[in-house]
Amino acid sequence: MNEKKTVIVTGGAGYIGSHAIIELLEHTDFHIVSIDNYSNSTNKTYELIKKINPKPFDFFDIDLCNKEETDKLFKKYSNIVGVIHFAAFKSVPESVENPYKYYHNNINSQLNVMEACGSNNIENFIFSSSCSVYGNIATLPVSEETPLNKAESPYAYTKQIGEEILKDYSKSTNNNLQIIALRYFNPVGAHVSGLIGENPINKPNNLVPIITQTAIGKIKEMTVYGDDYKTRDGSCIRDYVHVTDIASAHIKALNYLIDKKQKNNFSIFNLGTGNGVSVLEAIQSFEKISGVKLNFKIGSRRAGDVAAIYSDTSLTEKILEWKAKYTLDEMMESAWKWEKNNQILS
Ligand SMILES: NC(=O)c1ccc[n+]([C@@H]2O[C@H](COP(=O)([O-])OP(=O)(O)OC[C@H]3O[C@@H](n4cnc5c(N)ncnc54)[C@H](O)[C@@H]3O)[C@@H](O)[C@H]2O)c1
Repeated sequence: MNEKKTVIVTGGAGYIGSHAIIELLEHTDFHIVSIDNYSNSTNKTYELIKKINPKPFDFFDIDLCNKEETDKLFKKYSNIVGVIHFAAFKSVPESVENPYKYYHNNINSQLNVMEACGSNNIENFIFSSSCSVYGNIATLPVSEETPLNKAESPYAYTKQIGEEILKDYSKSTNNNLQIIALRYFNPVGAHVSGLIGENPINKPNNLVPIITQTAIGKIKEMTVYGDDYKTRDGSCIRDYVHVTDIASAHIKALNYLIDKKQKNNFSIFNLGTGNGVSVLEAIQSFEKISGVKLNFKIGSRRAGDVAAIYSDTSLTEKILEWKAKYTLDEMMESAWKWEKNNQILS
């Protein structure tokens, strides 16, 4: 049995989870255990993590919708100090097409992981939430106090429900769980090494992998979904934030809970840069840093997309002492480096 304190990372083979494992290996002394069923990733990610940091960690192929298997895995470790729950399906358009798939996977896996925390007396839990919980908001930036609007997609609804479950769970006297939900804005970019990055086995639906895959020729032509929004250039506005910044926030959040600094049992924090960037501005930044002219066309709006959203991160800066460091150009540069490397690796 490992004597170090253990942190369980669900979805650790995925995009954000893998970057979080790297940050945890690099900056903490926890023993890391990753659980994934590779529904949107492969276990090759772990080999790449090991190239970046050779510290040992454990990983298991488990579907978190399987309650018994999940609980059995948690019981293997007697010294779990926290759980970071990344695992979920995350495609907005796919969730519009197939809502039940999203309700089934995202809600069942969350309930099973939380119940495994309860039955194994685990005290600290971090949840991957999303800025999509805000819905279409007229007043920007959005803070954690901003009342949530109707979810624009079943995916966003799973995150709203997920947060409600956490809130109710935190009020229950049956467990000692301290919970933080981190609302990510738009995580992009890749590890500075260029060895890992966003590599979904399913078709990418996020802007930056679509940009880099178009630039490298995997996608022939990309579409900008709508140039008739009421934004400065008509395209959607988002708050892009580097994945390593997102990853490092999890260490801050985990230590905040472990150090018993949280006053209530449940907190929510925004993770963004606070800057709104339009799709066309993101394309310009990419073209500037890569020197590649992107083949894109303007298409119609995409179901489930909100016009504009960016974060107020003052609470996160004050309480978690976290602030995003990477610029938009650096995000694009790292994503491009990864895409070019990935071409060689795959
Ligand atoms: N990437 C984004 O733009 C973004 C934005 C806001 C929030 N989030 C949330 O952050 C989390 C991580 O996102 P990501 O971008 O790394 O996604 P990802 O798809 O790359 O990673 C998620 C991982 O979870 C695994 N997984 C899914 N369902 C599972 C299950 N039932 N059992 C075991 N493993 C399962 C997948 O195989 C994948 O490796 C998700 O909860 C997502 O909703 C992501």
